Formats: sequence, structure tokens, C-alpha cells
Amino acid sequence: MTDERKAPGGHAARIREPQGKLGVLLPGLGAVSTTFIAGVESIRRGMSQPIGSLTQMGHIRLGKRTEHRNPRISELVPLADLADLEFAAWDPFEADAYRSALNAGVLEPELLNQVRPFLEGIHPLPAAFDQHYVKKLDGPNVKRGASKMELAEQLIEDIATFRRDRGVERLAMVWCGSTEIFLQPGAAHQSVQSFERAMRENDPSIAPSMLYAYAAIMSGVPYANGAPNLSVDLPALVALANEREVPICGKDFKTGQTLLKTALAPMLKARLLGLAGWFSMNILGNRDGEVLDDPESFKTKEESKLSVLEYILQPELYPALYEKFYHKVRINYYPPRGDNKEGWDNLDIFGWLGYPMQIKVDFLCRDSILAAPIVLDLVLFLDLAARAGMKGIQEWLSFYFKSPMVAPELYPEHDLFIQLMKLKNTLRWLRGEEQITHLGVEYYD
Ligand SMILES: NC(=O)c1ccc[n+]([C@@H]2O[C@H](COP(=O)([O-])OP(=O)(O)OC[C@H]3O[C@@H](n4cnc5c(N)ncnc54)[C@H](O)[C@@H]3O)[C@@H](O)[C@H]2O)c1
Repeated sequence: MTDERKAPGGHAARIREPQGKLGVLLPGLGAVSTTFIAGVESIRRGMSQPIGSLTQMGHIRLGKRTEHRNPRISELVPLADLADLEFAAWDPFEADAYRSALNAGVLEPELLNQVRPFLEGIHPLPAAFDQHYVKKLDGPNVKRGASKMELAEQLIEDIATFRRDRGVERLAMVWCGSTEIFLQPGAAHQSVQSFERAMRENDPSIAPSMLYAYAAIMSGVPYANGAPNLSVDLPALVALANEREVPICGKDFKTGQTLLKTALAPMLKARLLGLAGWFSMNILGNRDGEVLDDPESFKTKEESKLSVLEYILQPELYPALYEKFYHKVRINYYPPRGDNKEGWDNLDIFGWLGYPMQIKVDFLCRDSILAAPIVLDLVLFLDLAARAGMKGIQEWLSFYFKSPMVAPELYPEHDLFIQLMKLKNTLRWLRGEEQITHLGVEYYD
């Protein structure tokens, strides 16, 4: 069944209705994944609220302000129901979702016990894992194969088995695995042929996260990358996604410090306040923090965190304000904090006549609490995109990422508020509703 709407100047998207179960595939069953799964189950049982999720709580304005039309996003576009989600995960560690959640220490044992049997039913499948790419981890639950192509084929088989055994109609995959070492796109990543050859030849430039992305796309499954490693952000996999008409997006969930940065930096630029320096410090003690303690994994994260200010502040347009600002990001592994990260930001700014001022932000956040609703929204929006016939890079989902993927000729949009407008305008466009420009002169004619 499809639903079609038209409006003046609007795009008329045929969107298939979300009938049947939606399978959620998670490479990585750590803090983020278990917080997400336990949360969904708790919400389904009416024990918790989906706070932080646009698909569950967000409203969207339609038409003129005088029309007072503000439906829920889920009333504007047909989204899968939480009751229809089925979960599967891969991890090199054997712990089921309950034990992994306890180990992550994000959610209280009391809450976890309420959903314990459900979580205990989720056992991670053997991972396509190689310690070369995540130096700090070494687990026993891994796939064996003569080549990386064989590992990808095993992942494709896992997906087919899950689809069949659980009777799911549609699927979406979100990489919630560890941050891999820093890699740059190279010759092997340029075309589908060179990528497949490199998989067969066990080329070191093919990291495990790329195998999951390849397996997803080959299986027609939309894919999002929650970590900063390349994964699907390669010409070969973008081409494959376009060819197979699969939506993809990434990279790196925008949660704590970068979320703040992409909300504060637009304010500085809006008021033409100068920036002399921005120093960002983090202490965290979860497994992600431990992985990021390895310089090679940290480099991947650092690249992802550093670029946002350059793009938002546009020093080439505003040299007097932003040409020489000093930007430093530090991540320190500090076990006592667990998942409860602390992010300090010190901003040295300057105003009228160059007079200096400072802003200090101390964000005592919970990483996985901020990330879990992002995973949920990505699953539901990617499924929507697939049902609406959208394929390739989904720029409208930039809102959720620190390093949004964009077409090669474009620069990424980092400003949180522009990202939200882009997302909402895409939903309006899908439904043939008027774009909101915030012009407003028409009210005064
Ligand atoms: N929590 C946040 O706010 C946040 C924000 C942005 C990005 N991220 C990224 O999300 C990812 C998950 O974060 P987390 O806090 O859950 O980390 P975590 O360490 O708790 O969980 C990651 C899990 O991935 C598993 N893993 C590693 N390589 C794998 C592979 N090849 N296949 C399958 N599983 C694999 C690990 O064993 C681990 O259990 C990390 O890459 C992190 O950098 C998290």
C-alpha cells in the first residue's frame, strides 16, 4: 500500500506504508546499543518516555503560523511503530545484551531487571573483527574466513537468516561498534570493483566496519555509521548504495561536546563575535574511552571533532574574527567516571573593539543517554527513506552526525539549527507540504 499526497509546488512522494516487522541490525553490542535496546523495550512497556527522540516526541510546523498546524512528525510521515522493532547484534565479546548493559553501567540495575528476559534473549552473533583496527580489544566471538570477502558473505548470510527466522519485512543497520584506527580513502576504495578485489585479497585498507556496510548494501539494508571511522564513507560504497538504491548516512553520532559546539558556534557567528581559542577537554571511563586511549583510534575521533568549527565559522569569509583561532580537543580515559563523561570547554572570544571575554561550559553528560535516541531516529528515518525510494547519501540526516556525509562537491553543514531545518524541510517535501522559509513579510501586507 502506498500513500501519496500533493501540494502546490510540492514533491509527491510515494511512501510505502510500514507494514510488518522492522529488523534493527547493530554491529557492536556495547554501551550505546544496549542503552538503545533496553530503552526501546522499557518505552514499549510504558515504563519510560522516549526523551531526546525527534521521531517519538517531535512536532513539525506546517503552513503559515496563522494556520496553527503542528502535528507530531510521526503524524506527518508514516514511521514504523516501536512495537514492530526486532533486534540483532554482532560483537567480539559473547555477553548477551543484559550482561553487556550491566557491564556498560549506563542504566540502573533496577531498570535493567525490568527488561532482563528480553535483553538476555539477544546474543551477539560472531563479529567480523580484527584487532589490527581496534588495538585495545580482543574478544573470542569472531568469524573465521580465508578472506575479507568471505567474512562479508557470512554477514550477508547472518542478515538473510535473521530476516527469515524472525519474519522481518524490512531492516536497517546502525554501526555502534568501536572507533577503528584512522584510515584515509585510497585506491582500493574508489570503485566497487577495486573494493571487491581488495576484500578478496585481504587488503589492509579494508576495515571490518566496511564489511558490515558492504553486507548491508548488498542485502538492500539502509546503513548508518555512528562512529568516526570511514565505514560507508567511501566512493565505492556510495556508488554501490546508489546502484542498489539503498539509503546511507554517517559519520559519528553528534552527542555531547560537539552537540554543544554546533549550537554555540552559530551564536558567535550570528553576532559577529570573534574567537581566539576553543579548548575542549573530556574525561570518560567507558569502553569507548578505553578504545580512544589508543592514539590511532583517537586520531579518527579527533579529525571528526576538529572540523566542525572551521565549517561553521568560515574563517575565509571572516578573517578578522576567525582566521587564527586555536582549537584543541583532548579525550582522557579516566575509569572512575564510566559512561558519565565530563566535557569542559573554554572559549576565548572577543567583542566590540577587540575586548576579550570568556565562556566556560562544563557539561556533565551521559554519552549513551544522548546517543540512544539518535540510534532510534536513524533506524526509523532510514526505514522511511527506503520506503520513500530515497537512495545514496541522506544529507537531511546530518543533524545526527559530527561529520555528516555529503556529495563530493559539497561541504558538510554543521550548524545544528540549519541541520534541523534541512531535516524538517525534507519531511515537508516528502509530503508535498510548503517549505518554511521564515520570511514572514506576508503577515504584514
Ligand atoms: N556514546 C556516544 O555519545 C557516542 C557518540 C559518538 C560516537 N560514538 C561511537 O559509537 C560507538 C559505540 O560507542 P559505545 O560507547 O557503545 O562503545 P562500546 O565500547 O561500549 O561498544 C562498542 C562495541 O563494539 C564492539 N566491536 C568492536 N569492533 C567490532 C566489530 N568489528 N564488529 C562488531 N562489534 C565490534 C566492541 O566489542 C564493543 O562491545 C563508538 O565507536 C563510539 O565512538 C558514541
